[in-house]
Amino acid sequence: MSRVYNFSAGPAVLPEEVLKSAAEEMLDYKGTGMSVMEMSHRSKAFEEIITTAEADLRELMNIPDNYKVLFLQGGASQQFAMIPMNLMKNKVADYIVTGQWAKKAASEAAKYGKVNKIASSEDKTFSYIPDCSDLPVSEDADYVYICENNTIYGTKFKELPNTKGKTLVADVSSCFLSEPVDVSKYGVIYGGVQKNIGPAGVVIVIIREDLITEDVLPGTPTMLTYKTHADAESLYNTPPAYGIYICGKVFKWLKSMGGLETMKARNEKKAALLYDFLDQSQMFKGTVAKEDRSLMNVPFVTGNADLDAKFVKEAKASGLENLKGHRSVGGMRASIYNAMPYEGVEALVAFMKKFEKENL
Ligand SMILES: Cc1ncc(COP(=O)(O)O)c(C=O)c1O
Repeated sequence: MSRVYNFSAGPAVLPEEVLKSAAEEMLDYKGTGMSVMEMSHRSKAFEEIITTAEADLRELMNIPDNYKVLFLQGGASQQFAMIPMNLMKNKVADYIVTGQWAKKAASEAAKYGKVNKIASSEDKTFSYIPDCSDLPVSEDADYVYICENNTIYGTKFKELPNTKGKTLVADVSSCFLSEPVDVSKYGVIYGGVQKNIGPAGVVIVIIREDLITEDVLPGTPTMLTYKTHADAESLYNTPPAYGIYICGKVFKWLKSMGGLETMKARNEKKAALLYDFLDQSQMFKGTVAKEDRSLMNVPFVTGNADLDAKFVKEAKASGLENLKGHRSVGGMRASIYNAMPYEGVEALVAFMKKFEKENL
């Protein structure tokens, strides 16, 4: 067996310990004689899996008691609709557009009400985070929306926007559990798990209880109403059970690593190795304003599309996979999520040095 260093933006690398442990339990989960994939979601064994997963997530993120944790389906993209359907009581929301995902979320919300784009970084191809300390937040806005880490462009909000008292909603798909957060500053935190937590198919929503109501937009389907899932403890219908089980294992892994403070330090060390190299390289350049750089997604270019393609191809041949940038921006992108070991980034930087020497 040989494993590569997988720099995919998602679905992405998972901790080897987690994969091994899942493999060991594949045929017989803890003496049940069946796989978690084959098990009723109403069984005792699964009930323990989901309640333990939630408890561990609550502990890791220090989630206050007045927040619900929901394990849903439909990916992060389904939240683009669920958020306005459930939260747009005044039919007005403010969006800060820092990339394609925020832009998509804003267009989806515009189907349900008035969307004000109160800040954007589109003027410079989303290569920075705008100053959000004093934005024209709408008086009647039901919420202010951000995508906290922009997977495609590699920017991250280092400070949350000043929402002037309005509810903050954040898509944290690509920075989930990468560092500690103060949950109480948000109304809703959500993300697809397929980047930093588990297999595609699960989206986790952490939502303040007062935002969960029956007063949703007319026509909102039962399945797209937060209250449905909150009342049923994420078991209204068959949940993505196997995915939740793997997320639970990743939460245990994170706890065993020392929690989110430790992950932050590890992630900073990994990212610094790559950014420091980029800052002195003659060939490779980072594409993002330094102060807004993501710890998770690191885009870079050579400035020559043919050379970029050569780099991606030769890196793959050396066991460094999925370094091609998003199809909308080109160049390269290394996603270095929690489960990417330091050695993976060392191997990438060593390869970049070699490539630079051979091709400059
Ligand atoms: C920040 C962010 N939001 C949303 C999405 C969409 O996620 P999904 O494919 O789960 O709908 C992605 C996917 O890459 C993402 O990076």
